[in-house]
Amino acid sequence: MSRLAKPNGDITMRGMGRLRQAKRKIQRIAFNSLSLQTFVDEEEQNSLEKHMGFPGQWQEHRRFQLAFVKEHGVIPTSRFLEFGSGPLTLGLPLIDYLDKNKYVGVDIRPNVTDIAHNQVAKHGLAWKNPRLIVSDDFAADELADKTFDFVFSFSMLFHLKDQLVERLFAVIAERLTPTGCYWGNINNVDMPESTWLKFPFVGRSPEFYGAIAEQHGMTMKSLGSLEDNGFRLKDKLERHNVLLEFRLR
Ligand SMILES: C[S@@+](CC[C@H](N)C(=O)[O-])C[C@H]1O[C@@H](n2cnc3c(N)ncnc32)[C@H](O)[C@@H]1O
Repeated sequence: MSRLAKPNGDITMRGMGRLRQAKRKIQRIAFNSLSLQTFVDEEEQNSLEKHMGFPGQWQEHRRFQLAFVKEHGVIPTSRFLEFGSGPLTLGLPLIDYLDKNKYVGVDIRPNVTDIAHNQVAKHGLAWKNPRLIVSDDFAADELADKTFDFVFSFSMLFHLKDQLVERLFAVIAERLTPTGCYWGNINNVDMPESTWLKFPFVGRSPEFYGAIAEQHGMTMKSLGSLEDNGFRLKDKLERHNVLLEFRLR
């Protein structure tokens, strides 16, 4: 009789432990030999891209956004607020770059914020204390009287109904330090309105945003298209998006 079995045929505790170990070993061998890690990585990448909305463009959107904010003055001590932070396309490398307690990301979707939390954990960045907030009112209550050196949104303004843009700019005017600024990209194209997930997809002119900013005591400056600012995907329409900068008057 096996040393792992009792006289009555039941398996001993030790035997159970050995069986579990053997099972794990077989699973590890199968996982490695079938390149399942590559499959898991690709699945994760697909899911992240699905949640950021631009299939096949993950690396460039991440690279571009990080390069842009650094080139425009974000340093490790900057207090940074991102609206529409999604799966942390920018957020993850930025949290890594910024000092502790400096990054706040706000998104309206709880499911994508769960993914964002998972990304922070997976990359060992919990110690940076990023704050991720789910809110349908741009975290107006959650952030109380907090102010930021930089406010940013990428690929979010064109998913907001006009009344929400009004609300966003009212909130941003309260969030900026006197020398702070807000950057956002827009879809400066007159086109039939469509949707992405539950969100509208709209084209509005820089003047539309400038007029709303004006009502909330901010001035607007165009920084040119994404392409002008180094976006590398020459065959993608987003390269024509315009980057706008807003400052308190
Ligand atoms: C196209 S995705 C871009 C995500 C991310 N900024 C990026 O560049 O990958 C737009 C994001 O804006 C978020 N969003 C849309 N409306 C919002 C709102 N009113 N408040 C906060 N987030 C919003 C969506 O949930 C989504 O995660």
